[in-house]
Amino acid sequence: MIWKFIIFLVRKLDPEIAHQISLIALKLGLHPRLKRIEIPVKINNLNFFNFLGVAAGFDKNAQVIEKIHYLNFGLAEIGTITPLPQYGNPKPRIFRLEKDQAIINRNGFNNLGMAQAIKKLKHYRKKFPVGSDFVLGVNIGPNKDSNNRFQDYEILSRGLSEFADYLTINISSPNTPNLRDFHEIENLEKVLISVKNGIAKSKNMELYLPIFLKISPDINEHNLNLIIETANKNNISGLIVSNTTVDRYKYLHPDNLHEDGGLSGKPLFKKSTTFLAIANKIIKHRKYNLYLIAAGGVLDAKSAYAKILCGAHLVQLYSSMTFDGPLIADKILKGLLQLMNRDNISSITDVRGLVDNPDAAMKIANNGLINNLQT
Ligand SMILES: Cc1cc2nc3c(=O)[nH]c(=O)nc-3n(C[C@H](O)[C@H](O)[C@H](O)COP(=O)(O)O)c2cc1C
Repeated sequence: MIWKFIIFLVRKLDPEIAHQISLIALKLGLHPRLKRIEIPVKINNLNFFNFLGVAAGFDKNAQVIEKIHYLNFGLAEIGTITPLPQYGNPKPRIFRLEKDQAIINRNGFNNLGMAQAIKKLKHYRKKFPVGSDFVLGVNIGPNKDSNNRFQDYEILSRGLSEFADYLTINISSPNTPNLRDFHEIENLEKVLISVKNGIAKSKNMELYLPIFLKISPDINEHNLNLIIETANKNNISGLIVSNTTVDRYKYLHPDNLHEDGGLSGKPLFKKSTTFLAIANKIIKHRKYNLYLIAAGGVLDAKSAYAKILCGAHLVQLYSSMTFDGPLIADKILKGLLQLMNRDNISSITDVRGLVDNPDAAMKIANNGLINNLQT
């Protein structure tokens, strides 16, 4: 109840100020301390005590990782971190679409840069070494004004790999001009070489480091096919599907809809989940060993379940936490355990990738596996 009231107050503030206040509250320890909920997943050499994570953008500067442990997430992805500190676009740059449970942001990789992140990560890793069961992803991207973005990816993977349980290559923010050009295969190959060169030169080089590629939901299926082929050829661990969209849907309420930037939250669910299901189908068909992390419009247990039904091994969220507050993971995990109980499944891998579109997935999430299979 108290959290509902606090969230109600915080939501009256400018979204970026509200976010800063949330980070300060976490730093000060003003957060719930929740009993751990285990829904374990193992992918590659990574053990997750549960499959639900905080998506990139929430803790850009690795300031509150330890506090996120308390909120019952099984993983967190920090960043996007750029080599040099970067202010980002002029404020205001984050906008709520309250009636649609959505956000538009055009932050532009505002962050304190790699050196600051390393300081925080060193501190964190003293207490929680790489390989702890809370999994930490490090999301990297180039500086806006860099004259060699490939080099930026190499610098970042060289400097940050030793702290990461997995590395995410961000090529999909719509707010860094031309970043999405790295979805073109020739460019992507060069990015992957740069990242691998960086890892090879890092202190982590004797370890196998999983690499994920975070993609845009605004590419076409042909491009997705080529990206999956390239990821497989280059031994990438998997894809994060997806970042925000530049689409604007007619059914959305007009408040703030005119703002430029990437749209996230509830209205992104259908597009990102459709894309996830397509990616899963391609990977299955080609028998590739690629994992899928879902992001986009996860608000509750049913939407998280739908992501798993469409092929997700892991699920991330960001926007819904800004609307629902710090109890969101707890709520989703408890709800998911109930859905698993209803559907008589003991592990989420039993239903992973069972359907190939979000509508079919939501039908199961709403009505149950048995009911749905009988109709
Ligand atoms: C304010 C804000 C900032 C974000 N910053 C980043 C970022 O720095 N790097 C990144 O890869 N994704 C970033 N994202 C995208 C999220 O990680 C996620 O992919 C997207 O919001 C979809 O998930 P959601 O609907 O649960 O928010 C950001 C999203 C929001 C709302």
